[in-house]
Amino acid sequence: MKRILALGGSNSKTSINKKFAIYAANQLENVEVVVADLNELNLPLYSPDLEAEKGCPENVVQFYKLIESIDGIVLSLAEYNGNQTAAFKNLWDWLSRVDEMKFWREKPMLLMATSPGGRGGASVLKITSESLPFFGGNIIASFSLPLFHNNFSVDGIKDEALNSDLNSKIVLLQNEINK
Ligand SMILES: Cc1cc2nc3c(=O)[nH]c(=O)nc-3n(C[C@H](O)[C@H](O)[C@H](O)COP(=O)(O)O)c2cc1C
Repeated sequence: MKRILALGGSNSKTSINKKFAIYAANQLENVEVVVADLNELNLPLYSPDLEAEKGCPENVVQFYKLIESIDGIVLSLAEYNGNQTAAFKNLWDWLSRVDEMKFWREKPMLLMATSPGGRGGASVLKITSESLPFFGGNIIASFSLPLFHNNFSVDGIKDEALNSDLNSKIVLLQNEINK
């Protein structure tokens, strides 16, 4: 069975992006969903001095191996001040020390963002969409969900147009991982 990594780009224990990534990954058929949590990785803030002194944390190496082992990724980014959260950027920086430019391993990815606001993390989605391909990111489709608390339900996105757009993007990822 294909394995899909669901990841929220946030270290909030109540992360809406983690919830959304898990929801979207679970819409895929015949897959095992592997959930990763930035809190559980418990990474120190990257610094060259720390790296020189102690090397790369074992959890970063394990996470890199997890990316290598899975068949697809559903990543939902939290937006802080128009950009990635420090927690997610910190993971990114550490991963780039394991494998400088290719750590997303070309795994088919549904890239998403959501926020309580009306732009739905559009800014972080754009910034990350532009940089991911330089780091082995293979974005099959991207999707932004605005007004999370109004629109999200575990039974499906309440807004019909958004629900149908998301479902069509999940199908694109499904087709890619089934290849
Ligand atoms: C420091 C900070 C900055 C934020 N900046 C933005 C922003 O630029 N755009 C936005 O849509 N929401 C912003 N928010 C609100 C977040 O979208 C909201 O907290 C969301 O729940 C974060 O996602 P998460 O629950 O997955 O952690 C910000 C929140 C914080 C705490």
